[in-house]
Amino acid sequence: MRARLEDALGAPVTDTVTPGGGFGHQLAAALTLADGRRAFVKAAPDDDPLTAANVHEAAVLDSLPPGAPAPDLLGIHCAAGWTAVVIAHLNGPHPDLSPASGDAEQTWTLLDKLTSSPAPALYAAAVNGTPSTTATLHGWNNLLADPPADLAPAARAHLPQLTELEAAWPALAHGDRIVHGDLRADNMVRDHHAGVTFVDWAHASLGPACIDAASLAPQLILAGHTPADIARLLRDHPATANSPDTTTAFLAALTGHWHRNARKPTPPGAPGLRAYQHRAAAAGLALLGYCLS
Ligand SMILES: Nc1ncnc2c1ncn2[C@@H]1O[C@H](COP(=O)(O)OP(=O)(O)OP(=O)(O)O)[C@@H](O)[C@H]1O
Ligand SMILES: [Mg+2]
Repeated sequence: MRARLEDALGAPVTDTVTPGGGFGHQLAAALTLADGRRAFVKAAPDDDPLTAANVHEAAVLDSLPPGAPAPDLLGIHCAAGWTAVVIAHLNGPHPDLSPASGDAEQTWTLLDKLTSSPAPALYAAAVNGTPSTTATLHGWNNLLADPPADLAPAARAHLPQLTELEAAWPALAHGDRIVHGDLRADNMVRDHHAGVTFVDWAHASLGPACIDAASLAPQLILAGHTPADIARLLRDHPATANSPDTTTAFLAALTGHWHRNARKPTPPGAPGLRAYQHRAAAAGLALLGYCLS
């Protein structure tokens, strides 16, 4: 595969760096070539489900409208039973979503732009048939059936209401907007030239405009924003202001998913996942406290 990539890129690879960030187990690395160029590559064995996700991401990157906050697709290569997706390299850190930084504001603006009109036909065709992973999010129903002893009191007090909200979500999960579907700071890079750019489009789909803004909201709380400020932002943001019920149903489903999954055993290759889900579950619940009141 290395030889195949060097052949396609036209120069030997002299360095690879695996950035810290998400929870995946595949190769996701920045390559430096002998002539100084860089490229980002995601690769997995063909029988690993991540390969299907990477191929989907490649199709999405190739179909996003001009000006979308995403890197360009450079190519897909198969060799030795592996598939590699090569993507333009972005140069910079993850954005700082804390209140002190302007990155969160820039991200809200990008989301407004991305969701203000229906997705172009090319994008709709690229994601067509791929079920939105967000539509199946749930968790409160399982917790209601058998509430764990350590369930947060605020969750326990609202369990029937949260279960009802989450049950409403699948019917609301349809729409015609671009949905990234996994928006966190570690799936963004603040490129020195392009500014905040979204990466890891493996979960992209069509859906209502509110999904990405609503999933970003608990991330901003984890980064130090107050739940009250973020609840106010969701009330006012163009992507969420017109659909408060859909936004709240989605948040309930996402938070239920975190509360349920945080209690499962650690999956192989993702040591930090459960601790993150515990933190995210608490942030989502704090936000829901404002949406429900
Ligand atoms: N085009 C790019 N240029 C530079 N760095 C990137 C690029 N795309 C992603 N990254 C960095 O690499 C990390 C991993 O990439 P990505 O999230 O796409 O991989 P993944 O294996 O699908 O993710 P996860 O680890 O979330 O499952 C990101 O967190 C980001 O820091
Ligand atoms: Mg990622």
